[in-house]
Amino acid sequence: MTEAIRYERVGDIAVLAVDNPPVNALGRDVRVGLAAGMDRAEAEGARAVLIHGTGRTFPAGADIREFGKPPTEPFLPDLCNRIEASPLLVVSAIHGTALGGGLEVALSTHYRIATPSAKVGLPEVNLGILPGAGGTQRLPRVAGSEAALDLITSARHVGAEEALKLGILDRIAEGEAREIGLAHAQALLDEGAPRRPVGEMPAPEPVDFDARYDAVLKKGRGQLSPAVAVRAVQAACELPFEQGMARERELFTELMQSDQRQGLIHAFFAERAVGKLPELDGVTPREVASIGVIGGGTMGAGIATAALLAGLPVTLLEMTDKAAAAARGRIEHNLEGALKRGKISKARFERLAGQDLRIATSYAALSGSDLVIEAVFEDIEVKKQVFAQLDASCKPGAVLASNTSYLDLNEIAAATSRPQDVIGLHFFSPAHVMKLLEIVVADRTAPEVVATGFALGKRLGKVSVRAGVCDGFIGNRILAAYRACAEHMVLDGATPFQIDAAVRGFGFAMGPYEVSDLAGLDIGWASRKRKRAAGLDPKARDVTYADRLCEAGHFGRKTGKGYYIYGPGKSGAEPNPEVMELVAAERAEKGITPREFTDQEILRRYMAAMVNEAARVVGEGIARRPLDVDVTLLHGYGFPRYRGGPMKWADMDGLDGLLEDIRGYAREDDFFWSPAPLLEELVAEGRKFDDLNTPAGD
Ligand code: 3HC
Ligand code: NAI
Repeated sequence: MTEAIRYERVGDIAVLAVDNPPVNALGRDVRVGLAAGMDRAEAEGARAVLIHGTGRTFPAGADIREFGKPPTEPFLPDLCNRIEASPLLVVSAIHGTALGGGLEVALSTHYRIATPSAKVGLPEVNLGILPGAGGTQRLPRVAGSEAALDLITSARHVGAEEALKLGILDRIAEGEAREIGLAHAQALLDEGAPRRPVGEMPAPEPVDFDARYDAVLKKGRGQLSPAVAVRAVQAACELPFEQGMARERELFTELMQSDQRQGLIHAFFAERAVGKLPELDGVTPREVASIGVIGGGTMGAGIATAALLAGLPVTLLEMTDKAAAAARGRIEHNLEGALKRGKISKARFERLAGQDLRIATSYAALSGSDLVIEAVFEDIEVKKQVFAQLDASCKPGAVLASNTSYLDLNEIAAATSRPQDVIGLHFFSPAHVMKLLEIVVADRTAPEVVATGFALGKRLGKVSVRAGVCDGFIGNRILAAYRACAEHMVLDGATPFQIDAAVRGFGFAMGPYEVSDLAGLDIGWASRKRKRAAGLDPKARDVTYADRLCEAGHFGRKTGKGYYIYGPGKSGAEPNPEVMELVAAERAEKGITPREFTDQEILRRYMAAMVNEAARVVGEGIARRPLDVDVTLLHGYGFPRYRGGPMKWADMDGLDGLLEDIRGYAREDDFFWSPAPLLEELVAEGRKFDDLNTPAGD
């Protein structure tokens, strides 16, 4: 036995309690302990074995930290087979989340009972692998091929009620896992229930696996694991159990060796590492029981919705009664969406849109708010006025936050007498949907205010990333670089449509021009005007054809026309022919002879621009670690998760090759393409971005 398993005898039943906090992952000690526990129960003449988890959960899966290292015995599939083959009656009692290898262990026991709040699932595809301990063979045998394909390819967690209906569970009971498990095992012994190995059950009915494979691959935009998992379930239908297990192992091993597995596991740990900052160690966040929001436009309404849904009462300030009414309308519309999707009940909707939401036009209404988020127009003078008013109206200790996308937070903080309380909380649109929150820390922001930002992010269900102050912080600054690179390629001979297609081919949901059309071309236009007003470096290439689109009133989707044409009668967006006319005019004006770009070159330059700027962002300390950049791009900019983020991608692709290419591009334009010092340093030292990550990544 190992310390990770507690063995106990209760009459005829041997109890194996998994004790491996925090999530009872099935690391080596747990596997050794479970195997030894089974041996002991059989040797001691027990009649049944109960397996359950202590603390917060039944095992939530294999120990992901072991992935990529040489596997150690006993291997999980062998352990599962060993449990299933036991001559004793084996029962599992599930609470918390029985995920991945955890559910596979449960499926190898003969009977399964769970608490009403328990959840089960096989989310391995999210980590770039597939269930590798019999899940693809046993789940279809208990739940059928359709349900197994759904659960395995979607990675979704299923509540106890649904799991019961699907046949994954035999029973649900209130109580502690150990108690309900013991009662169930005893009842089964009393009634003389037989052993019931799932591996001996008949093969499930087949479905059209080829069609399913294609559909899943398309949906995943190139992510392999869900599609490969389809083939493993197919094996359950077509092969005897043992051969099916062997096929599962083969496919599992293939995926385990893939870059996609590395990328997805990096993403998993990076998301958990973003909030772990030494500056927050031992710092207590301030209490936040109510929120103020200033400005009820697109962002303010979204932020208010997110806060309301997280149970925080909101006071929203607008300029006029008319604007206030419009803001209320937007928030109600958002809440109605949540109601329609079954996220909130009608009664809860009434409360959130009623007593929890106060709309005001006077700053006095914000005097009781613990934290106020400003989301007014992106204009530094307006923001400074708002913060001066907040300084005069808010209670001492209130956190004063700005949702600015680009502006200098230090300048905003200087408009108050309490810069230590000022922070940036940069939400992404739509704010009640998008997961990313950039927490922008100004020069004088107090640590507990940063901690309060992270605590609020957690409460709102966001993935929060710390950023320093610069034009665009982490995400928008990097976006500006790869967007500029795209524009240079358009001037030099590519088309926006070709670039969008190439970028989609890499796994992004949308290309940069489709994103611009969605966000509104006026946003980029305003930003270009601002930059020109501030004075562009004479060496910078200024691209102007998009200004002509905006001058003609074409702002993208919201006006029906931008880079693409939208609207009734159109089955999908079509390229706007005016765009290439405007581009041709600008090329002619600048004396540029267009040349061909291959999709490969487009992607190479696009990624090089992204990574080079990201390296500057890390080098300057705007992002603390490369992983902070990765999480920002994954959650705010549609970067394909299975590639891990730009820094992880660059590490896997090879930093030396990337730097060499950047140096090559710099021979055409040494201003835009000057290599980031950090990138040069890492290449010179033979290191990777991941070496700078803390805690260390995969
Ligand atoms: N292995 C190792 N560590 C794990 C882990 C796992 N399977 N699952 C979670 N952890 C760690 C987290 O990294 C975190 O560590 P930290 O405190 O040092 O940051 C800690 O456990 C707590 O995790 P969360 O912060 O995510 O806690 P939550 O309560 O929010 O969520 C959870 C709990 C739902 C279990 C979530 O952690 C989760 O989804 N985990 C992954 C589950 C999973 O993917 N299982 C399948 C694994 S692959 C497998 O089983 C292969 C098999 O088929 C062979
Ligand atoms: P918006 O124009 O939709 O809304 C701004 C709202 O602020 C308007 O309703 C206006 O009436 C109100 N307002 C203006 N001045 C005010 C004042 N002094 N007092 C009270 N209310 C005032 O703008 P949007 O898009 O919501 O942007 C707001 C902020 O959020 C900007 O700083 C923007 O950069 C930032 N942001 C925008 C994103 C987007 O995708 N739209 C994404 C992330 C941040």
